[in-house]
Amino acid sequence: MRDRFQEQLQVLRARSLERKLREIGSAQGPEIEIARRRLINFSSNDYLGLANDSRLREAAVAAIKEFGVGAGASRLISGTQSPHLRLESALANWKGTEAALCFSSGYAAALGTIPALVASNDIILLDKLCHASLIDSAKLSGAILRVFPHNHLGKLENHLEWAQRQPAGKRVLILTESVFSMDGDRAPLRELIELKKHFGALLFLDEAHAVGVIGSNGRGLAAAENLDEDVDVQMGTLSKALGASGGYICGSRSLIEWLINRARSFIYSTAPPPGIAAAALAAVNFLASPEGEERRRLLWERIALMHELLPRGGLNKKATDAVSAIFPWIVGDEQGAIDLASALQSEGFFVPAIRYPTVAKGSARLRITVTAAHDDAQIRSLCNAIERLST
Ligand SMILES: Cc1ncc(COP(=O)(O)O)c(C=O)c1O
Repeated sequence: MRDRFQEQLQVLRARSLERKLREIGSAQGPEIEIARRRLINFSSNDYLGLANDSRLREAAVAAIKEFGVGAGASRLISGTQSPHLRLESALANWKGTEAALCFSSGYAAALGTIPALVASNDIILLDKLCHASLIDSAKLSGAILRVFPHNHLGKLENHLEWAQRQPAGKRVLILTESVFSMDGDRAPLRELIELKKHFGALLFLDEAHAVGVIGSNGRGLAAAENLDEDVDVQMGTLSKALGASGGYICGSRSLIEWLINRARSFIYSTAPPPGIAAAALAAVNFLASPEGEERRRLLWERIALMHELLPRGGLNKKATDAVSAIFPWIVGDEQGAIDLASALQSEGFFVPAIRYPTVAKGSARLRITVTAAHDDAQIRSLCNAIERLST
């Protein structure tokens, strides 16, 4: 029998779209080891350098000693272990919401929540650059889906007007992100909220790349702009700046109780390991502390340096301000992005090439992420290498 998968892989290879796993023989951090070689790591979302922090490691180990490794079953079946409840109460406190609910990943949080909010006769309006977890969740919900061009308020308004003309009783849900994962820019939150209020829609905001990075105590973009009370559903992940793993939803108590009853990725999946919940709790406590604020300040110093030094020109125009820890370096052509990433790897840097379908065809790029754990010299040397290799 012909190997269909080999044939399909060959097609991907021919288009420079094949993906491969690379083994890392070390913890995440500003330096990692790949194939026994130390590389400076500009690929991770561990923005505050917490993934290998002793506070998180010790919290995880202590919880494993007390609660074991596995959670046993879904929380509705085998009971909720204390670390999950402690984490949820700390999350709600930190975000200033009535309640919170944890999931085993950010992806699972979206996948469980969005279909619990809307049904097949409702309407979802989705920013074109939303993450796959939001797109997949929107499709899974069965709601009527309309996509608006990235951050285009006029087109969103047109969709809202259209939704208003539909038979009464349809719920309208807007899905967007605070910081877009592959472009590093922000949503115009204030204007989005004005629109959603005017049209009586609901807003689901994915703060995955904003928590820990933006706003006092890293509470995210909505909190930074004093708009958190106007966001109906705040989603985030514990896997990026918080250095652990898992996803969460913060919102009203009735929303959370509804999700406990309706979010299928919560109901039908084993609870996250208690050690991970305890590590995430240590991260939330750290963020809420003066030391956490200091770490976030340090991150912004690194972001400012990267913004200043990263050469611009060609496809890469300089934005006036740096607004997140994500710096896309647009190459365009898929093979060109792979070649640049491997040239950088030969010089000792690990920077991922991002290609279709993660980004649009022909907009392949390096996705450079800077963290508080990088030092100035590492950022300078990367920017020099990009300048040299891109000309
Ligand atoms: C914007 C955005 N939302 C959600 C997720 C999913 O979060 P997690 O990695 O915790 O599943 C990601 C992960 O890459 C993301 O970038």
